[in-house]
Amino acid sequence: MAPARVLVLISGSGSNLQALIDASNTPALPDVEFVKVISDRKDAYGLKRAEAAKIPTTYHGILPYKKKFPDDTEKPQFSEARKAYDADLAKLVLAEKPDIVVCAGFMRIVTPSFLEPLHEQKIPIINLHPSLHGDLVGAHCIERAWEEFKQGKRTKTGIMIHYVIAEVDMGEPIVQQEVSIEGCETLEQLQTRIHEAEHKLIVEGTKRVVERGRQ
Ligand code: GRF
Repeated sequence: MAPARVLVLISGSGSNLQALIDASNTPALPDVEFVKVISDRKDAYGLKRAEAAKIPTTYHGILPYKKKFPDDTEKPQFSEARKAYDADLAKLVLAEKPDIVVCAGFMRIVTPSFLEPLHEQKIPIINLHPSLHGDLVGAHCIERAWEEFKQGKRTKTGIMIHYVIAEVDMGEPIVQQEVSIEGCETLEQLQTRIHEAEHKLIVEGTKRVVERGRQ
């Protein structure tokens, strides 16, 4: 059987991409090929990691779209720009004929312009999110969990790999894991604890979805 074609979307340091690269073609993540890494940020360190692993990369930034579709309202949402950006992102992704798309620290909220063309082709899109399903959604979840811990409102948080749907961080979970906050003395300690867990869970979630695609 041909290796599963994996396409990864990133925005930042790419430590989760690195975890996938390191696990690839070991028992943790057998029979995969990374066909492309796409970043929405030109300076994402993850692009360098991809290049070091000889994975083709593409930078796909939002700025030209914001210029083409300006939004002069008081609270700009750039909805036309995002729609056009996402439609082109879908084209870039589909051109690689991936079997799975992994959002590994991709810090954009994707719209149906991206999701629908991929769903039509039955290409699963999965995302890493640093909270359990239905608990914290959106950005800064680790910081928010830490604040609630300090206020005595929680002792644990979690991470999950889930299918991406239009509703942010609400798609069906593939695998999730609780992370205790107890014993952490600083936010940085909690971040380290969460990132270490993420690097294992993203590999496990990707493996599960690749296996589902082969059934
Ligand atoms: C991860 O902590 C993820 O939970 C968050 O962004 C971070 C990405 O880190 N959404 P990296 O770019 O994979 O190092």
